[in-house]
Amino acid sequence: MKKIILIVLAMFLVFSGAEAQKKKTGKTVSNKVTVDGKTTSDILVTESRLLPPPEIGLDIPLHAVLKNRQTVRKFREEEIPMEMLSSLLWSAYGYNRPEEQKRVVPSAVNCQEYDIYVFTRDGAFLYNAEKNTLDMVVPGDNRAIISQQKFFAIAPVSIVMVANYDRMTMFKEEATRDFYAATDCGYISQDIYLYCSAAELATVACGGIDREAIHKLLHIKNGRAMLAHPVGMK
Ligand SMILES: Cc1cc2nc3c(=O)[nH]c(=O)nc-3n(C[C@H](O)[C@H](O)[C@H](O)COP(=O)(O)O)c2cc1C
Repeated sequence: MKKIILIVLAMFLVFSGAEAQKKKTGKTVSNKVTVDGKTTSDILVTESRLLPPPEIGLDIPLHAVLKNRQTVRKFREEEIPMEMLSSLLWSAYGYNRPEEQKRVVPSAVNCQEYDIYVFTRDGAFLYNAEKNTLDMVVPGDNRAIISQQKFFAIAPVSIVMVANYDRMTMFKEEATRDFYAATDCGYISQDIYLYCSAAELATVACGGIDREAIHKLLHIKNGRAMLAHPVGMK
């Protein structure tokens, strides 16, 4: 009998805690969300938006794409089409061999440690390549907190690459882990540059970002925001 009373009491406490949390955020809370089968940091997904399929067949010679690759820091405020955003994200971090869970970009020991966040006027989203969705983790316009560089507040989209160290425990030394995280980031950044070159979009790789503010906003506890790419129409 005592046992039953204790179980009922425990159930009541769990239920009332969840309800209180729900009232605070207005949304059901789900911790330890998994994206692409990998656990992210404790984060709340409040809304999931399906992206259009990425248009994989951009018919531009590689030579032309490489020739036009450049940094552009002037952005128009208008939104980029969702088809373009979907293709851009696929180029940066999508699966090109989904049956093997392997991506367009390589990663050291295939640890696939990056979480790709997309900041827009609507909110901050986590890119889920498996479902081809943008999962909202912070509502509202937080583009300007990424960096003091003014163009972040103007570009309609900014991609923030966060190395999730929970997926890099195979590297026992910090220096080795950091070396591979930085190297892997370079591939993602270059693919963003190459897609933007092909689609005639403006972008700039930025290391000058406010990591403290980003980590706080996104609840990054064991990881590092490495680079950010504002993207927009030229
Ligand atoms: C790792 C890295 C960090 C960078 N950080 C910034 C930055 O914070 N702000 C900026 O305006 N440009 C930044 N850039 C862009 C470089 O200034 C730019 O690539 C360089 O001037 C060469 O120009 P290009 O990309 O047109 O060849 C960065 C580039 C790299 C690769």
